[in-house]
Amino acid sequence: MTVMQRKTVAALQSEASENDEVVQEDGGHALKRSLSALDVVMLGVGCIIGAGIFVLTGHAAATNAGPAIILSFVCGAIVCALAGLCYAEMASTVPVSGSAYTYAYATMGELIAWLIGWDLILEYAVGATTVAIGWSGYVVSFLHSFGIDIPEQFAKAPFSYEPGHGWSHAGAVLNVPAMVIVGLITLLLVVGIRESARVNSVIVIIKVLIVLAFIGAGISYVDTSHWVTAKNPTGAFIPPNTGESGVFGMSGVLRGAAVVFFAYIGFDSVSCVAQETRNPRRDMPIGLLGSLTICTILYVLVSYVLTGIVPYDKLNVSDPIAVGVDAIGMRWLSPIVKLGAIFGLTSVILVLLLSQPRIFYSMARDGLLPPFASKIHPRFHTPYITTIITGVVVMILAGLLPIGLVGELVSIGTLFAFMVVCIGVLVLRITQPNLERAFKTPAVYVVAPLGALSSLFLMAGLPADTWIRLIIWMAIGIVIYFAYGIRHSRLRREREASSGQAVQR
Ligand code: ALA
Repeated sequence: MTVMQRKTVAALQSEASENDEVVQEDGGHALKRSLSALDVVMLGVGCIIGAGIFVLTGHAAATNAGPAIILSFVCGAIVCALAGLCYAEMASTVPVSGSAYTYAYATMGELIAWLIGWDLILEYAVGATTVAIGWSGYVVSFLHSFGIDIPEQFAKAPFSYEPGHGWSHAGAVLNVPAMVIVGLITLLLVVGIRESARVNSVIVIIKVLIVLAFIGAGISYVDTSHWVTAKNPTGAFIPPNTGESGVFGMSGVLRGAAVVFFAYIGFDSVSCVAQETRNPRRDMPIGLLGSLTICTILYVLVSYVLTGIVPYDKLNVSDPIAVGVDAIGMRWLSPIVKLGAIFGLTSVILVLLLSQPRIFYSMARDGLLPPFASKIHPRFHTPYITTIITGVVVMILAGLLPIGLVGELVSIGTLFAFMVVCIGVLVLRITQPNLERAFKTPAVYVVAPLGALSSLFLMAGLPADTWIRLIIWMAIGIVIYFAYGIRHSRLRREREASSGQAVQR
């Protein structure tokens, strides 16, 4: 059946080497095995630390978990570790751009691959939207520290959304700073600006130093009396559930985990450089698990300090870490924290907006998207058309939508991709047990099912509205596949051509 047709791993591996040559000839962008384990860790931390910790932590603590947001971060880390191990095996076996889309094509067939490619739009494009909204919050707050005020109606989404209560008009016009940063980064990406490992490392060091400064400055001010709020009169670590699922209590911790899961997104970008590491067997697990460990420790400490210095019900703001710094009276640190967040978030937007056109490129090369999506600019050597389309769409979304809404959509989309990658690893182990694998997931028959189930579990913690949006998004994807992809699939055309030749013979 056409929808079940799979790409062979051998074909993908040869595509990978074709790609190497093209990129090298075009732009000197050699996919050489030059990255060390440390580079990969840096890359991981660079992609991971962003709006999740700088923005969503406050939102999730205020509305879902309270101080138990710490537990939410631990839950998120466990799910990521399981999925990360599966990503490492796939990335070292099928090192082609396209990430989970490509892995699914090799293991579960074209329709699932298409759906995952379609789903990755939620991770990358909607992810960039979320981070851009977070960026805007920090820029507004940073400028405010210097007496420059961007009028609120031009720095916020015109709509707000509360689960259970629906949409309302927030009184603003457009989130202009969020749109501006997306526009500028899109422009840079079109003319071929790339982050080198060194630039990334510098940004990572700045980001990590600022996070450490916050922890160091705040830790001695932590006071559990801040856990006492109107809805948590006893000051319990896990505030009592309000009667609504996902609003405090254990269900709130789990929903908080699903929301702050966003803070860990960036793993798949790490797995994409498998081909460029000197020793993937060793560097992939170090890169994936090393960056995850560093970020987990930082996240747990930040959330401990933040909820210990500010009552969690005051944290539903766009710049919670800065609010924390203000709360301990270290006003001089506030602009530094904000500047660090701005830098950090900028690099995350850049990586996400860089990744999205790469997925489109892979899909277009496979015939599942129109050929223009794989067009490379003759001078800049970038997939400029898809970069511009992605940039414009993300700009519009970032200008209009509230952060909580898009953040949850990114998390559910990414968790879905994680689930498919975990299942894909198992499928490949069963169908091609002898395939050479540079890195093998340890205890795969335990890790992969647990990875898939725990991803599903976190998805289950997200509100029904987010699920409905995911289902609608996937349904649109299925319609597009049957209207376009199935008929233009390169694999199908090749198969028909070769069966035609066989008939002629
Ligand atoms: N993990 C990235 C962030 O938190 C996407 O911004």
